[in-house]
Amino acid sequence: MCGIVGAIAQRPVADILVEGLRRLEYRGYDSAGLAVLSESGKLQRLRCLGKVATLAEALADAPMPGTLGIAHTRWATHGEPSQRNAHPHICRERCALVHNGIIENHENLRELQRDAGHRFTSETDTEVIIHAIHDALEARHQLTDAVRICTQLLHGAYALGVIDRAHPECLVAARLGSPLVIGLGFQEHFIASDVPALLPVTNRFIFLEDGDLAELSRTSVRIWNAAGEEVQRPVRTSTLSVDATERGAYRHFMQKEIFEQPRAVAETLEGRIGTDQVLSAAFGPEAEALFAQVQSVTLVACGTSYHAGLVAKYWIESLAKVHCQVEVASEYRYRQPIVLDQSLFVSISQSGETADTLAALRMATQNGYLGTLAICNVAESSLVRESQFQLLTRAGPEIGVASTKAFTTQLVALLLLALALGHQRGLSAEREAHAVQVLRALPTQLERTLAIDADIAELAQAFVEKGHTLFLGRGEQHAIAMEGALKLKEISYIHAEAYPAGELKHGPLALIDEDMPVVVVAPNNALLEKLKSNLEEVRARGGQLFVFADDQVALQQTEGVRVLRLPESDDLIDPLVFSLPMQLLAYHVAALKGTDVDQPRNLAKSVTVE
Ligand code: G6P
Repeated sequence: MCGIVGAIAQRPVADILVEGLRRLEYRGYDSAGLAVLSESGKLQRLRCLGKVATLAEALADAPMPGTLGIAHTRWATHGEPSQRNAHPHICRERCALVHNGIIENHENLRELQRDAGHRFTSETDTEVIIHAIHDALEARHQLTDAVRICTQLLHGAYALGVIDRAHPECLVAARLGSPLVIGLGFQEHFIASDVPALLPVTNRFIFLEDGDLAELSRTSVRIWNAAGEEVQRPVRTSTLSVDATERGAYRHFMQKEIFEQPRAVAETLEGRIGTDQVLSAAFGPEAEALFAQVQSVTLVACGTSYHAGLVAKYWIESLAKVHCQVEVASEYRYRQPIVLDQSLFVSISQSGETADTLAALRMATQNGYLGTLAICNVAESSLVRESQFQLLTRAGPEIGVASTKAFTTQLVALLLLALALGHQRGLSAEREAHAVQVLRALPTQLERTLAIDADIAELAQAFVEKGHTLFLGRGEQHAIAMEGALKLKEISYIHAEAYPAGELKHGPLALIDEDMPVVVVAPNNALLEKLKSNLEEVRARGGQLFVFADDQVALQQTEGVRVLRLPESDDLIDPLVFSLPMQLLAYHVAALKGTDVDQPRNLAKSVTVE
């Protein structure tokens, strides 16, 4: 991951670069830096351990004038977070580079370069790139050619931004496997890992494709594809507003994003449901014909998106009566999976750039699937571009590292998929019409559910001092319990685990005592009575229960059992409804603990490395 920004302009660029980094901080935030070419042709560099705010403070004390520069916010892969490992990396005070990705053959290159007399100042895989570019420049190549020669030596993934003292009119960029966009201004051009970074300066973008090399001057942009042919890539206008990525009156982005869910869900449904059925055309003109043939579905994803897949399995089996398996992408890609006949491959990802999910998709395209479908929040992402079918979630930009609205909109998209498949496979018209009705009321249902916020803020006190928490659920709510546990550990650093409640007696019951809070997801469904027996097992051992139940659940609040009531909802959408208290609980516990809610330690939002 990591975020990169670059600018070549008529005006000073340092502040533009730092603002761009601030907007990319979700990609990594352990160190940051920038390099700017001064008017006199000197390469100035500033790097700090820590966040972009620290870099901004250092820059205020030592301004860096200049109209050409590159900048970087890092998520460490090779080499600890430190100033010396922070980007940009430079070679012999001549050229500078920012890099996102991983160079797999860096050790070989490092050995060769060391023998050739290069001195290494970091432990990064990146440094070999700038030495290789330097060598090509010294062999009298132009900067663009030098970067092209260098990329031919690299194995792995990269998005690069490069500047050179001898080429003050030129910013060079390249991408393979890591995202990179070009922002078009008037007599100024920019590069960045993602669109929001550049929204303060432009809304016109070119999305580079894998293997592309780009040369930006103040007045021109030239692009060559992997085969070395000069190409024109389409210019797209972003409809995102500059403040779509601002926090507004909320204390944290995560809090804002939790409360945006009713709207995000409404937008994801927009134009996709008719009066009494799901509009299959929403998946693309050929989707109906595809869905009619599907006999099996494989869902592949990472992190929170994987949990969305686990919920969807229940929907796909019960509504479409189709075999469904859910796989963690980093495992799937290294297995030799058996692909059943007439199988649909579905990848789920908020970013569409997660390296493991992308690799799984690429493998699937070789594996005889009937088709590939991406459920994704980013229209221009690699995952969307490389899949035959797409259903975009419309959550809008999600900045908090812990995913919230991206998750619930994925659930909506997956429920639409289950219904569309069911439509082709004998789902009754009444059931489909009922589901559509329930979906239509979903945004209001979520709005009502969010009213529990104040109760959860108060409840959070009970968790602040705890070291561990157990989450329980049954059926599809087990996946929601898993998501609740993931949210809590991600942002509050409290160890949390989720179990299907029926598994308690096979081990985790041994952990139960008064120090172990047990959070239970208890909608009023067919498994409720079974779940209640599991709760008795906990109570009998002195465990502290915190039960989220809907209005209709007959459950008394007693000593050791705290019951939190949610408005009654239809079974079908319970996973969405019960996700909200899980998110709010994690949020309030973390806010009380004072952890960095939006940028938890060691994590990043977009994981574009293996
Ligand atoms: C990271 C993020 C998670 C996300 C996961 C998968 O770990 O912090 O929030 O669920 O990546 O990302 P994707 O973009 O593929 O959904």
